Amino acid sequence: MSAYLMVGIEGAAPRLVERSVATISAQDRGFLYGDGLFETIRVVQGRTPYLASHLERLGAGAATLLFPRLPWRLDELAAACHDLIRANHVTDGYVRLTVSRGPAARGYEAPPDPTPTLVMQASEWRPAPDLYTAGYRAVLSSVRVSAHSPLCRVKSLSALEKVIARTQAAQQGCNEALLLNTDGYLTEGAATNLFVVREQRLLTPALACGLLPGIGRRQALQLARALGYPCEEGFLTVEDLWRADEAFVTNALVLAVPLTAVDGRPIGHGGRPGPVTAAILAGLRRAMGIE
Ligand SMILES: Cc1ncc(COP(=O)(O)O)c(C=O)c1O
Repeated sequence: MSAYLMVGIEGAAPRLVERSVATISAQDRGFLYGDGLFETIRVVQGRTPYLASHLERLGAGAATLLFPRLPWRLDELAAACHDLIRANHVTDGYVRLTVSRGPAARGYEAPPDPTPTLVMQASEWRPAPDLYTAGYRAVLSSVRVSAHSPLCRVKSLSALEKVIARTQAAQQGCNEALLLNTDGYLTEGAATNLFVVREQRLLTPALACGLLPGIGRRQALQLARALGYPCEEGFLTVEDLWRADEAFVTNALVLAVPLTAVDGRPIGHGGRPGPVTAAILAGLRRAMGIE
């Protein structure tokens, strides 16, 4: 069976291309400078429940990176996404959408009239069977991020801090790395947002700490409030982790995964996934239509 990508090269309308013959320019600024954005969108039974939120964040990121505009309307991207899912017969999985500023002459300065490149790929994916029972073990990364960097609020292709952090985690046999900012406050995981549960209250680092406004984070906060759990977005330290009853991390793919240990230290009661995390996960799955 053929595998297809959806591509919009140099700003042209998105079209399906067989994966084995798709190419992009060696002058593409996404390749040369990490000059672009991406989104990872969960697919559930061929549907994309939070696609609109992802596309909205893509538009906001493009404005932060000073793209004059994206050459594709958001409804055009949504239609292309669904065509791609159908072409690849993906039922449960994800779509990775990548937009770069496109090819340009050498130099950091962005061209005033870029011709962006779009590549979308759709893949079948399911969480590992023991993901929610085993949870994630995390390390505290040595990488510190600046809360003032415009990049921490953008899902940019310049993800090297996250690459270093996740690689450090893997080298220590762990699944995730938590990053502190230069003021010493917790921000997020390399590919997730962080939640701590204490006395039935949810605490999560405020956006001002320097982190991606995750789609999973927003859904978890909305759901927790609807379930009656008080939620606080604030300034958390490593001490808050050690004092937690439970902790979990969120992203659009895995939804909510219990954090069972950090730097080898069990979180909560013996590092076992807790009941509040389970309630949030169940609610997120329900909202997405996952049985
Ligand atoms: C740095 C970072 N923080 C948080 C998240 C979670 O974002 P979302 O819930 O939108 O997937 C991600 C997702 O990949 C991420 O890369």
